[in-house]
Amino acid sequence: MAFEKICTLDDVWEGEMEVFETSDKTEVLVTVIDGGDVKAYQAMCPHQDIPLVEGEFDGKQLTCRAHLWQFDCTNGKGINPEDSKLSEYPIKLEGDDVFVNIEGITPFVAPT
Ligand code: FES
Repeated sequence: MAFEKICTLDDVWEGEMEVFETSDKTEVLVTVIDGGDVKAYQAMCPHQDIPLVEGEFDGKQLTCRAHLWQFDCTNGKGINPEDSKLSEYPIKLEGDDVFVNIEGITPFVAPT
C-alpha cells in the first residue's frame, strides 16, 4: 500500500484533530497543529487503547481522557510519561487533499 487520500483540510481545521479510516479500515488520527502543520498518528492511546480523539487537543499537546497521558503532536513524543510516544504516519499534501501512508508502521503500545 502506498499513500492514499484520507481527508481534506476542510475536514479538520487548525487546532483540531479528527479520526479517519484508510481503505483497510486502519484508523488514523489527523491533527492540525497551531500554525498549520498537519500530522498523522496512531488513533488509539498506547496506554490502554482508548481513542485519542476523545481526549483534549490544545493545538500542540494531546491529553488522553482516560488517565491524562500527554503527547506532543508536533513530533509524537510523550510528555507525561516521557517514555511513551505515538507512532507517526507519513503524510503528504496535494492542494487541500491529505494523503497518508501506513505501510510498515505499527501503533506503539506502552510496556505494562
Ligand atoms: S488509556 Fe490513555 S492514558 Fe490511559
